Amino acid sequence: MRIGKHEVPYPLIQGGMAVRVSGYRLAGNVARCGGIGLVATAGIALNSPLFTGDNYFTAEPEALKAELAKAYEIAPDGVIGTNCMVAVTDYADLVKASCEGGAKLIVSGAGLPLNLPALTADWPDVALVPIVSSIKAAELIARKWHKAYGRLPDAVVVEDPDTAGGHLGEKLEKIGIGEYDQYATVRGVKDYFREKWSLDIPIIAAGGVWDREDFQYAMEQGSDGVQMGTRFVCTEECDADDAFKQAYLDCKEEDIGLLMSPAGLPGRALIANVEKIRERDLEMTPTCPTGCLRKCAYKSEGERFCIVHALDRAQRGDTETGLVFCGTNAWKATRIETVAGIFDELFH
Ligand SMILES: Cc1cc2nc3c(=O)[nH]c(=O)nc-3n(C[C@H](O)[C@H](O)[C@H](O)COP(=O)(O)O)c2cc1C
Repeated sequence: MRIGKHEVPYPLIQGGMAVRVSGYRLAGNVARCGGIGLVATAGIALNSPLFTGDNYFTAEPEALKAELAKAYEIAPDGVIGTNCMVAVTDYADLVKASCEGGAKLIVSGAGLPLNLPALTADWPDVALVPIVSSIKAAELIARKWHKAYGRLPDAVVVEDPDTAGGHLGEKLEKIGIGEYDQYATVRGVKDYFREKWSLDIPIIAAGGVWDREDFQYAMEQGSDGVQMGTRFVCTEECDADDAFKQAYLDCKEEDIGLLMSPAGLPGRALIANVEKIRERDLEMTPTCPTGCLRKCAYKSEGERFCIVHALDRAQRGDTETGLVFCGTNAWKATRIETVAGIFDELFH
């Protein structure tokens, strides 16, 4: 698969997973195995030695560059990129730090990355990959990028809100009701770029891809590659604490559900402890500690909980009061495997 100037042997992106679930170890090892590894940028400062408690926004870009450098130690020639969420306050800084840190691509969602080409103008070799969940969103981005910057996406990730983990690009009431058709969207986005722009870019399906059969189905249905998140959590190389992985190993299908994130987007996670997350935050962090999100119901109204700290706690192993994001397939994890083992199963 080729995205912009960067080519990998296998058409697989390991999805960015914040906070620090996909850090340098996971991203580096996926890249070493011949896929594309992504470091998730949101909240990367929190579990970093560079963060001293009151320097979140200055520590974030530095922590990201340090993480990318360590990922490249694992895969010096690999294709390593970042996942940048439009919804975070320091989006522009994290995009720039990605470029400065040597990211070969930036995959960007949780909002429409309408100004991404402007932020990366000094790094034309960095491939730009928006995440969408509709053909309309892909059209909007392409029109804006072309008109304002003379640029088009190098690939598009189409994320299925009915299966993917983390924040989802669809209204809560529209998720899981059988209305969304993932592969019709993939083909629609593909056709749009071919017909309107005479452009044959990789369209990558994300959400619900677990095994070789799912991968082959995605390719038969018109995808050029897949982005996988949940499957990579229960690996030795995943950067999350063992307790986070154990929560996947222990969970049942009915433990996985939807919640409203204070970011204003629905999310998929293990949802049994949502009340405990809120109680913990109200007691220990009753006001927004960092301002990490541009729009946040916890910041403005004290509603729900502090998402970045809830995700950070889970990543460090507190799955009692931390938030464990996961896709609908998390219950399928039965053992800790290796990244190389997953590549073997999928491609060999
Ligand atoms: C723990 C976890 C954290 C995630 N964090 C992010 C994130 O920070 N940014 C993002 O764009 N997507 C995020 N996602 C979505 C993944 O990158 C990926 O697209 C999605 O999970 C694919 O579906 P799958 O998990 O069924 O493979 C996250 C997913 C999980 C499971």
